[in-house]
Amino acid sequence: MSTPKPDPRIAVDSAGLQRRIEELALISESPAPVVTRVLFSEADVRAREYVRRAAREAGLSVREDPIGNIFARWEGSEPALPAVGSGSHTDAIPNAGRYDGVVGVLGAFEALAALKRAGFRPRRSLEVVMFTSEEPTRFGLGCLGSRLMAGTISAARAQALRDRDGRTLDELRAAAGYSGPLESVRLPAGHYHSFIELHIEQGPVLEEKGIPIGIVEHIAGPSSYRMTLHGEGGHAGAVLMPARHDALLAGAEVALAVERAAKASGSPDTVGTVGIFRIEPGASNSVPFSAYLEIDLRDARLDTRAKALAEIRSSAALACARRGVRMDFEEINADPPAAGDPKTVETVEKVCSELGLRSLRMVSRAYHDSLFMARVSPTTMIFIPCRNGWSHRPEEFAAPGHIASGAEVLAHTMARLAGQTHGL
Ligand code: GLV
Ligand code: MN
Ligand code: MN
Repeated sequence: MSTPKPDPRIAVDSAGLQRRIEELALISESPAPVVTRVLFSEADVRAREYVRRAAREAGLSVREDPIGNIFARWEGSEPALPAVGSGSHTDAIPNAGRYDGVVGVLGAFEALAALKRAGFRPRRSLEVVMFTSEEPTRFGLGCLGSRLMAGTISAARAQALRDRDGRTLDELRAAAGYSGPLESVRLPAGHYHSFIELHIEQGPVLEEKGIPIGIVEHIAGPSSYRMTLHGEGGHAGAVLMPARHDALLAGAEVALAVERAAKASGSPDTVGTVGIFRIEPGASNSVPFSAYLEIDLRDARLDTRAKALAEIRSSAALACARRGVRMDFEEINADPPAAGDPKTVETVEKVCSELGLRSLRMVSRAYHDSLFMARVSPTTMIFIPCRNGWSHRPEEFAAPGHIASGAEVLAHTMARLAGQTHGL
């Protein structure tokens, strides 16, 4: 049997896509090459302007919802049919690089622009989403936009979110120009026929194996917790060691317990991180009276994640009891893993083989808005290699050729899923 030939008219403008990635990277709270774009910061607001402009330049019509998700749409000949979606995020954690999320937004614009140039006439509408706050930096909770779209967080809970400075979501979204009921962010049932997110792998597998495309079959389940430890402060010279109730030292024991529990969970996929650890009063000659920690715990399996969490909680309770420190513990989120849709995975796989690109089915260890889109639509992700698997750091790098291949696979996949009126 001969392999079907992909339409040669679908050609990605790699140089144009690179230029846009570079332009967006310059919109940052930190000097280049560092990218920082925290939700509703000035840089995030300017990046949103850039995204709207880029969408219009790709010939797409733009709308936004009350949480600031940006939708760029190409209406199909049968607009009442569920649409084929793609997209990712442009917010960036402090000290990040330029590709995480951005490749999936600007790459999807370029994929649709390539289809337009090729004369494609979609039957289903094609829609690209720039999701609000995939990163948890401001509110401690990631994927805010897609959680609301999928209805996995209530409007009331979202409304109650506060950042470190006590500012509310409503206050911040209003300042960024967004208003309206958060309930309306939820997607109507069957809005998407399928959803495909393009993203850098953020791990080393594709690069190590020399494979240009990964196709996501599973996304590991993230969870996160906040812990405040209340000890007793005092003079670093005057409070003798037996009398201490040092909140930092209790927190240090918790951080080590996280590492130990993740390693001993029984699953190689369990990962635990304490990425936030703040102490008060933060003076060199004062015993820390309080410590605040955020714990990120993930796994492809829920049983081993639960086992690790139980171990962390009991070690923390023991350390606090021994040190005379009180502990407040709160779950921020505990999400199940998501499965990619087998048919959509197969479609991407076929497209790759027709384009002569090797592909590999894989697990995403990072979370993505696709974790929530998978609850409301058949979903998968297209991964491309990134240098040394680096991500969430300024050295993050994906080769232009790999980015263009990812956008090309996305374009062909979306075209196939949308169907065509005539042409092609
Ligand atoms: C997403 O940025 C994640 O932390 O996995
Ligand atoms: Mn990220
Ligand atoms: Mn991302």
